[in-house]
Amino acid sequence: MNEATTSPSTAGPQVLPISCTLADGRTCVIRPMVESDAEELIALIPTTHLESDGLKYLPGEFKMTVEQEREYLRQRVNNPKMIGFVAVVEGRIVALAGAWSQDFRRLAHHAELGVTVVKEFWGLGLGRKMMEVVLDWGAHRGLRKMYLQVFDHNERAIRLYRDMGFVEEGRLREDILRGDGTYGDTIVMARYY
Ligand SMILES: CC(C)(COP(=O)(O)OP(=O)(O)OC[C@H]1O[C@@H](n2cnc3c(N)ncnc32)[C@H](O)[C@@H]1OP(=O)(O)O)[C@@H](O)C(=O)NCCC(=O)NCCS
Repeated sequence: MNEATTSPSTAGPQVLPISCTLADGRTCVIRPMVESDAEELIALIPTTHLESDGLKYLPGEFKMTVEQEREYLRQRVNNPKMIGFVAVVEGRIVALAGAWSQDFRRLAHHAELGVTVVKEFWGLGLGRKMMEVVLDWGAHRGLRKMYLQVFDHNERAIRLYRDMGFVEEGRLREDILRGDGTYGDTIVMARYY
């Protein structure tokens, strides 16, 4: 649906959009988010909150409108310190990933990343591929460090991050309320370039 709306852009050593094959044989295209994705993203994002206990939002807490999302994407496209990518399979957005650096010069050598895959597409290599694209963007920007925050019960994500060279840097103790009513830690993990 949106996969043909962008012209190629350089986000790192790879020229986007890139095409890859998922573990089930389907073709996936990864490209930067664009303003015209707003409507689809606003419909999709709340469903990812229903599908996972690994995200900050609980169902019903995500309140952005299509117009707000469009404005956010517009700003993001014009901000070299931020990047957002989507993965499109059979015309449908099935994963999002992005990274953002702070404006302060003391903090400009690192960025925080985030990644979400629609549940139906978990375990097909998409999370890994999206991470690679974000890490490439950081390398291209000359970052020293990429970091992320993950809930301690999110085993799938932690395993992926460890596999990709991220190591635990610290923990925010009892930082989050898990779906089962217990409190859990937020783990900060980082990878250095
Ligand atoms: C975490 C997430 C991004 C992983 O994406 P994915 O597409 O399923 O990951 P991949 O298929 O690329 O698998 C990558 C790695 O995840 C791990 N993984 C895959 N399936 C797993 C499973 N059933 N159990 C534990 N780890 C698993 C493995 O390390 C795997 O590496 P491998 O392919 O060499 O075996 C995805 O599950 C997701 O979006 N979850 C909900 C949102 C979320 O938690 N985001 C992260 C917030 S910090």
